[in-house]
Amino acid sequence: MTCRVQVSDTTEEAVRQAAEAIVRILRDAIEERGWASLALAGGRTPRPLYLQLAQSPYRTAVRWECIEWFWSDERPVPPDHPDSNYRLAVETLFSRITPPASRIHRLLTELDPREAARLYEATIRRVFGVDPTGIPRFDLILLGMGADGHIASLFLGTAALEEQQRLVVANEVPQLQATRLTFTPPLLRAARAILVLVTGEEKAPAVRDALEGPMDPKRLPAHLLRQVDGQVLWILDRAAASQLVSHRESCGSSQPNADLA
Ligand code: 6PG
Repeated sequence: MTCRVQVSDTTEEAVRQAAEAIVRILRDAIEERGWASLALAGGRTPRPLYLQLAQSPYRTAVRWECIEWFWSDERPVPPDHPDSNYRLAVETLFSRITPPASRIHRLLTELDPREAARLYEATIRRVFGVDPTGIPRFDLILLGMGADGHIASLFLGTAALEEQQRLVVANEVPQLQATRLTFTPPLLRAARAILVLVTGEEKAPAVRDALEGPMDPKRLPAHLLRQVDGQVLWILDRAAASQLVSHRESCGSSQPNADLA
């Protein structure tokens, strides 16, 4: 596992850094395997990033037709609902770079959430050609992080945090009084690369805890990112990084602050 922290002076610069990193990782994966798997994040933070990817120079920097598109989580709303993570991607990206529809794998929120999760896992296994016991390795999973330290829809105290087998689950989130569909810890841990884009001062305490706090995924789900097989790239604006004790290029070991000695 390698982990890097990149801090930019402004949100705009952080978004640009994220776009650069995404293009680099996807191009390398396509070069190596002829295709690449990408899981998009939801929420507000990625909107300017997706808009940027759909513009020059990023728009032509990747063979977007070679990407298999997924989502790391989804809200229990129809695909045309303003809160839909799918709709966010359609509005900002797909309407501009028009990937083949056969390569866009939406979570079927119109179904019973458990059935939608089961079908999504089956779709992931089919696309990756992985048998029922294997864990597919995404080339890139994009994540944001909540001010409470949740990632994807892995919220504090929810059952999905304990999941060891399934790749996607319907996770009851009392904090939201909702059931969210989400990637599970095993699928996140197996990723070749995870990019976490976090901006804004309100997230600074969670960023500090995620990078420098005592390891406890039950208390702060973002700590799961210390267990990822591949590379984890945290891209922060100055405001989100404002409480970091030291701006460290690497996140060090799972023993926090080990490299601060
Ligand atoms: C979602 C996300 C979620 C998001 C955080 C941060 O569907 O909401 O995937 O994990 O990344 O909640 O959200 P904001 O970017 O809106 O602060």
